Amino acid sequence: MSDHIRRPATLITGANGEMGHGLIEQLAKEGEHAIIGLDVHPLDDVIAEKCAATITGDILEPRLLERLQSEYEIHTVYHLAALLSTRAEFTPEAAHRVNVEGTMNLLKLAIEQSRWHGAPVRFMFPSSIAVYGLPDGKEKRKLGRIREEEYNFPTTMYGCNKMYCEHLGRYYSQHYRQLAADTLIGGIDFRCIRFPGLISAVTLPSGGTSDYAPEMLHAAAQGKPYSCFVREDVRIPFMAMPDAIKALLLLHEAPREKLTRSVYNITSFNPSAGEIRAIALKAFPSVDIRFSPDDKRQAIVDSWPADVDDSSARRDWSWSPDLDLDAAFQEYLIPEIHQRYSR
Ligand code: SER
Repeated sequence: MSDHIRRPATLITGANGEMGHGLIEQLAKEGEHAIIGLDVHPLDDVIAEKCAATITGDILEPRLLERLQSEYEIHTVYHLAALLSTRAEFTPEAAHRVNVEGTMNLLKLAIEQSRWHGAPVRFMFPSSIAVYGLPDGKEKRKLGRIREEEYNFPTTMYGCNKMYCEHLGRYYSQHYRQLAADTLIGGIDFRCIRFPGLISAVTLPSGGTSDYAPEMLHAAAQGKPYSCFVREDVRIPFMAMPDAIKALLLLHEAPREKLTRSVYNITSFNPSAGEIRAIALKAFPSVDIRFSPDDKRQAIVDSWPADVDDSSARRDWSWSPDLDLDAAFQEYLIPEIHQRYSR
């Protein structure tokens, strides 16, 4: 048996994705975690070298789950693997398998793990503003900040999947096998954040609907023209990736007794697509950024709120973003993206 097998480990699924990259960098800096990085694609070298073990495989594959069960002592799961909202609309049934059955598999793994090592497994789950479903753009413009329990009528497969998995997580942590004599309530400590659109300087998302913001900025920095698939006036909440990682770690560390809910909204800023264009043009003036809205993708963004109420997160685990709109673009995104493409 190698060393990592006997050390308490942190499992990260979707490790090669946008969030996985940021999270592994940060956890590796803290140095206390034996990270198991799992993804359907081989992990990029920069993050693979920070993991105690890397696994290329599918969370729907029973043999992979058995292997995880038998080889590792897992105390925390960051279950980041998912098919995002645009991609999921092209293959809704496959999205359901990955997003729902995959999550079930990980919840089952976590329950088993907790039964073996005797401590609750902390299960960190990213949900999304996609769980909201507002009737239309007109209603959306009238609403203020949306609270967690409002407008929970997602219109996308991805949003439905995330919504259901929020409930599954709550079920597994609070009600699992509630009629059994040896009930396992408390085996999972499920903690979930509904993220806004995320923008990273180091990676591009794939298959999301909030992708217009990062795509626009990364295209501008490369001097490439960009045709934006939503209208100029559309507005949804966003956050820079370092704040998303900060939020996951903050919620992970929060004392259980402070948490009054299992699912929390968070946000930082909410510029319109036109405002993002103006920021990109100021930094990269000669670039051609146009709007040519795709009505169907536009309708998805119109069903998401223009802003969310994150007061529960602020109260319960002292959430506040480090990067507001100005700092996110001027101190993080623009300098780092510029540097990335001028190498
Ligand atoms: N960024 C995601 C998407 O666009 C929403 O969580 O699908």
